[in-house]
Amino acid sequence: MKKTWKAASLLLVLMLFTAMLAACNNTTGGSGSVSVGIVLPTKDEPRWVQDEQRFKDALKDSDYTTEILFSQGSSAKEKENVETLINKGIEVLIITPQDGDAAASAVEAAKKEGITVISYDRLITNTDAVDYYVTFDSVAVGAAQGQYLIDNVQGSGVPLYLYAGAASDNNAFLFFEGAWKTLQPKIADGTFKIANSSEAEALKDTAELTRDQMSKILGQVTTNWDPNEAKNKAQTHLTAVGADLKGNVAVLAPNDGTARSIADVFASDGEVTSFFVTGQDAEKASIQYIIDGKQSMTVFKDVRTLVTDAMGIAIEILDGKTPETTGSYDNGEVEVKAKQTDVIVVDEDNVKQELIDSEYYEASEFSGL
Ligand code: BGC
Repeated sequence: MKKTWKAASLLLVLMLFTAMLAACNNTTGGSGSVSVGIVLPTKDEPRWVQDEQRFKDALKDSDYTTEILFSQGSSAKEKENVETLINKGIEVLIITPQDGDAAASAVEAAKKEGITVISYDRLITNTDAVDYYVTFDSVAVGAAQGQYLIDNVQGSGVPLYLYAGAASDNNAFLFFEGAWKTLQPKIADGTFKIANSSEAEALKDTAELTRDQMSKILGQVTTNWDPNEAKNKAQTHLTAVGADLKGNVAVLAPNDGTARSIADVFASDGEVTSFFVTGQDAEKASIQYIIDGKQSMTVFKDVRTLVTDAMGIAIEILDGKTPETTGSYDNGEVEVKAKQTDVIVVDEDNVKQELIDSEYYEASEFSGL
């Protein structure tokens, strides 16, 4: 009798605790049911914490209940997150996959429940279970990075260090495709000399690379989107080359997190006299690096627009309407209807105008502006 009572009260406490946790997790609203589920890849990169904040800002006065979960770099955790949200009754799932292929099974589970799936920033690949894709123009991001290097270097035979994102992220290919498209003619004509990839060197006369060819280059120069891995690679590369591949150099770094750590390595090498290094995301730390002259540029992707587009599509679905799209992306299995946003190149000349005057950041967040 006593034992039963104890077990029952324990159960009650447990139930209360679970209910409390569920309520705490809700971005808006306190009920157990959620209409839009949002899954982001990791809290460890400022880029995605920024997206979380922009979602929260946009949803402040919304009537829709939403919940944001992070996958912390794990596809298994991502699947678990999607299942949690399915159980909460979501009608729309907005998801940035940790790994484009691996996320297929998670969204297929959602699709089975009649949930509309929106791929956010990164495309989920090789499945028909993706309904929409909201994205920046990622090929343009890479092209802008390549063009920046071309516009700023002087003379010929400039050593060019190539770095790329994670091969599990379709965007890494789009960025590299755009960068290669602009840089390749300048590699072929001798303006640049590839310093750290024999695979890229072997393909230097090929204007358009296949995915397999890009995979080979990425195999040598991937950072896996990890600043530490980027740092180690840069150190290895600089140790391996002779003085002829130092001096004034150009560095294609795929995003801000990796750019800062690669820049630190190049800055500490006595034989590197000067370098231009690219980036993307307009992370606060990189804006400070740009102001301080430690990173040359970033590609600003206004996350406010991406959030507005994703939520716009979600709300139209909830209202039973058909969302408008501007194009489509082939994900290897189907053409996914897409809404795409332009990007802006930022360097020390326009940093104030693009990021402060546009109220994306506040001047007080930086020093020496
Ligand atoms: C995003 C970038 C981000 C990178 C690493 C890419 O898919 O488009 O903005 O820097 O992932 O997280």
